[in-house]
Amino acid sequence: MKNKGLIVTIILLGVILIGTFTYEMGQKNVTTETTTKEIKTVGILQFVSHPALDQIYEGVVDTLEKEGFKEGENFKIEFQNGQADQSKLATMSEQLVNKKADVLVGIATPAVQALANATSNLPIVMGAVTDPVSAGLVNDSEHPDKNITGVSDKAPADKQILLGTQLLPDAKSVGMLYSSTEDNSKYQVQEAKKAAEELGLEVKTFAIPSSNEISQTVQVMSDQVDFIYIPLDNTIANAMPTVINEANKKKIPVIPSVDTMVEQGGLATIGINQYNLGVKTGEMAAQLLKGEKKIEELPIYTFKDGETLINKEQADFLGVDIPKEILDEATEIGGDTK
Ligand code: TRP
Repeated sequence: MKNKGLIVTIILLGVILIGTFTYEMGQKNVTTETTTKEIKTVGILQFVSHPALDQIYEGVVDTLEKEGFKEGENFKIEFQNGQADQSKLATMSEQLVNKKADVLVGIATPAVQALANATSNLPIVMGAVTDPVSAGLVNDSEHPDKNITGVSDKAPADKQILLGTQLLPDAKSVGMLYSSTEDNSKYQVQEAKKAAEELGLEVKTFAIPSSNEISQTVQVMSDQVDFIYIPLDNTIANAMPTVINEANKKKIPVIPSVDTMVEQGGLATIGINQYNLGVKTGEMAAQLLKGEKKIEELPIYTFKDGETLINKEQADFLGVDIPKEILDEATEIGGDTK
């Protein structure tokens, strides 16, 4: 009798053990299946925070959602901001690659360069790279032959300089302010320099090694040139209030390359809408995520023409008369005059 009870207990324990084990295994299978099947991951690396790049990021995220990628349901965004620090960008790129993102998005040239250094397999979509070829990211914009495609925001440097001379007909010299670490700026300054010299302007270039030199450099420039030109430079965009503050002290007009910089006190530009750059970047990322297209089937999309944008309040502060024919075509934005 005693033995019988013991045997029953042992059998019961065995059944419970096996039962729990099979249940646990079942649970595990369920979870692994859902994660590997359903959730797509996009890794986004933004070079630094400034109003233009923030708008591009918004455009990317909104568009992915519109394309059916819902965070928390079937989709996950891993977002990193490199804060303009090369070593942070390198580590963050490694992290995103190790997380095996399905698609990587880099916002601004230095971010895409960091991602490209970290992987030559995972697909990378460029968000607003001024010149992908001179940045060493692609060989041929029409036929991407590596793991990189995306959107280029080639600013119309010649038209921007021309606009500067139309608004400031007495100007004889222009100073170009940019960061020596950004390939995107080197390219655009070359273009702008050519255009300015053709229009008979004397050109002085001021390449700063880091944001620490901005305020002093603008002081020096204000004594040497009639206006300041700024390319699509992320380091300068991040310090725009400092630039305007210094330039305003001597009433030196600033012609930047983007609407957000005009809003912050630039005089005028011909600029590309930043949010739309993000929308196009998001659309390309979505096509790759859905498997509709491969990188080699997606040529680089280049935004070229912009809209004329004028900061009327800044023009009044500087005493600049805007010719009627320009004002008629332009959109007025901004304020921020000190
Ligand atoms: N085109 C820049 C790059 O290649 C990025 C950029 C987009 C930017 N919009 C901007 C830089 C506005 C300065 C201001 O890095």
